Amino acid sequence: MILVTGGAGFIGANFILDWLAQGGEAIINLDKLTYAGNLQTLASLEDDARHIFVRGDIGDRALVSRLLFEYRPRALINFAAESHVDRSIHGPGDFIHTNVVGTFNLLESVRGYWNKLPSEEKAAFRFLHVSTDEVYGSLAPDEAPFSESHRYKPNSPYSASKAASDHMVRAWHHTYGLPVLTTNCSNNYGPYHFPEKLIPLVILNALAGKELPIYGDGMQVRDWLYVKDHCSAIRHVLANGRPGETYNIGGRNEKPNIEVVRTICAILDQLAPRADGAPYAQQISFVTDRPGHDRRYAIDARKLEQELSWTPAETFETGIRKTVEWYLANQDWVENISSGAYREWVEKQYG
Ligand code: NAD
Ligand code: DAU
Repeated sequence: MILVTGGAGFIGANFILDWLAQGGEAIINLDKLTYAGNLQTLASLEDDARHIFVRGDIGDRALVSRLLFEYRPRALINFAAESHVDRSIHGPGDFIHTNVVGTFNLLESVRGYWNKLPSEEKAAFRFLHVSTDEVYGSLAPDEAPFSESHRYKPNSPYSASKAASDHMVRAWHHTYGLPVLTTNCSNNYGPYHFPEKLIPLVILNALAGKELPIYGDGMQVRDWLYVKDHCSAIRHVLANGRPGETYNIGGRNEKPNIEVVRTICAILDQLAPRADGAPYAQQISFVTDRPGHDRRYAIDARKLEQELSWTPAETFETGIRKTVEWYLANQDWVENISSGAYREWVEKQYG
């Protein structure tokens, strides 16, 4: 049994679906169901006894302790977070609540449980903290990609809150011996991505005939990784990562935003041409830049590749095509988000 937090979000849900599809052991999924949590993504598991869903906050120590002592998981994977940079700029409070204070409380609940485990289970237990490359700050064009020893220099309220959580996780290992693993991954994309993020936003806006907003000059670089490759990397780190270590995850797919958007437009031109025959790229619109916008991220994943034999399955070209195809084939999932129906369902179930 493993405990996953934030498993109704984009990456957590992809992780659970893959894990169970590959015959993995049962999962308790603790998720607060914020606007980003969508149980519709996990609808195929409704009758699967290996998926136990609990609505709750990672910062609720009584609840988390109860779950730990009741189910006795051998590991916890912490996906739960506020994840959207723009939201952190408009309102950082929730980011501090969940990513900083929430992670602290989660660590304390886990420490209480872990301390009482018999020695063999105690040694085998893992706390895997899922983090981001944004903690390293922005790279100059000629700088080498982020390695695990790159200095932390977060620039947004989001990345500062994630950096704080990474530091606490590290300290709980150093001070208390908690067997932690931290992963720092680059930008993900793929199925079930909430359409506030660049790639799903562009696909859906294009199809709806809306503008495709590009912040600033669109030359900011992100290093894109297909979400299922992130999930496989996490499985590798959980299985064989060394406690106390951090692992960077990325697939060498550095792209300027404008190129990503033009690629999506070109795929849509082929798969779902506009009624008037005009190219989707006509909908591109350059808008005011994001405050404090990081110019470039890039990941050096050699430690993960060499130590744990991980390799990504997708290139950007194969992954982005799969992603566009997925959105075209799953209009009902999209419609439930656009209409807000996914929230009505949550409120009816969990009120
Ligand atoms: P997401 O916003 O799609 O999902 C977050 C999930 O966490 C949601 O289901 C939400 O309901 C839940 N949640 C939020 N606050 C909670 C709380 N207090 N208690 C319990 N559950 C809570 O995020 P995502 O994109 O799936 O990201 C997952 C993790 O991966 C985050 O920690 C993020 O920082 C990290 N990450 C994301 C990316 C990316 O490109 N999306 C890249 C690297 C790392
Ligand atoms: O690098 C990993 C991070 O990637 C994760 O830690 C975050 O949780 C995740 O949200 C993502 O952060 P970004 O800010 O890079 O992702 P976003 O999709 O918001 O933006 C990608 C790039 O596109 C970024 O340079 C900003 C730009 N952008 C974004 C939006 C939403 C636009 O130009 N226009 C837009 O409308």
